[in-house]
Amino acid sequence: MRDTGEFDVSSALLDWYDHHAREMPWRVSPADRADGVLSEPYRVWLSEVMLQQTTVAAVRDYFMRFTTRWPTVQALAAAPDDQVMGEWAGLGYYARARNLLKCARVVADDYGGQFPDTYDTLLKLPGIGPYTAAAISAIAFDRPATVLDGNVERVMARLYDIHDPLPGSKPLLKNKAAALTPAARPGDYAQAVMDLGATICTPKSPACGICPVREPCAARLEGTQAELPRKTPKKPKPTRYGHVYIAQGSDGALLLERRPDRGLLGGMLGWPGSEWSDAPIEAPPFATDWLLLSGEVRHTFTHFHLILRIWTATLPADKSFDDLIVIEKHKFRPSDLPTVMRKAYDLWRST
Ligand code: ADE
Repeated sequence: MRDTGEFDVSSALLDWYDHHAREMPWRVSPADRADGVLSEPYRVWLSEVMLQQTTVAAVRDYFMRFTTRWPTVQALAAAPDDQVMGEWAGLGYYARARNLLKCARVVADDYGGQFPDTYDTLLKLPGIGPYTAAAISAIAFDRPATVLDGNVERVMARLYDIHDPLPGSKPLLKNKAAALTPAARPGDYAQAVMDLGATICTPKSPACGICPVREPCAARLEGTQAELPRKTPKKPKPTRYGHVYIAQGSDGALLLERRPDRGLLGGMLGWPGSEWSDAPIEAPPFATDWLLLSGEVRHTFTHFHLILRIWTATLPADKSFDDLIVIEKHKFRPSDLPTVMRKAYDLWRST
């Protein structure tokens, strides 16, 4: 590990950001921030929650739809759960969406619709962890908080040529990031480091030739940048299997379930089905001749791969179901489904 010496890393990053900041729908440009305009906390919070484990490109359209439909935290707090979960569908990590709603309601009910402006108070809100609390404090309130996401970790590991593997090296990387965070323009600075990681100090083939901090970068001097950050190998993911059942009435109505709030895909709409396991037992929602589709659905979650077999049948008009919902054809939006359930729908429609 090395020092960056006399070089002023944060000033160099801020100068670079002044010319190269990426445009994003939730971002206030460095020029406007210099005129005293700050990002609205609601927009910073919403975008940062959406950006966790998701790319800027994927988030753009979701962010626009959410803020058009619910322009304020109060509007979001008043929205029905199923509409918010439907708009979130496809972004993944559905616990984030449930916490998003909880948080909106706490801010609306307990804080008069104003996000608190300190790191410690933000951290108490549902779904707001150290990263999001730091991002909101810095970007919305210009407080000198240190954000540490994957981009910042990579930039710090390279700048200081840190070879200890992640996740164990996080505290050291955080110390390095904190030591660089300037008292002036901390909001721009936080976004500058993340932009550098996303556009120049990329995981593969970093563009060191045009990097504003190439001069003091210890990994570049040692030629180790492509190997950093090191990571402790992850356990291989197991594969689970399941059955899902798509039943459609002659009028086009579909049989679905609202999954329980807790657990995977909690609160989301989905097809009824079996448990997901090594050897799932078939579990049709009603007795009839179910037809097995050729092909299967494959999807990867954080901790396992899933392979689903898809069965179809006609939904009898006169049937009622306790725990399931019959959705009329004109009310069904495939985009309300989480991705794995959408894949099952797409396979069925393609056959
Ligand atoms: N990734 C997540 N949040 C970001 C932000 N505010 N700026 C740049 N990249 C980001």
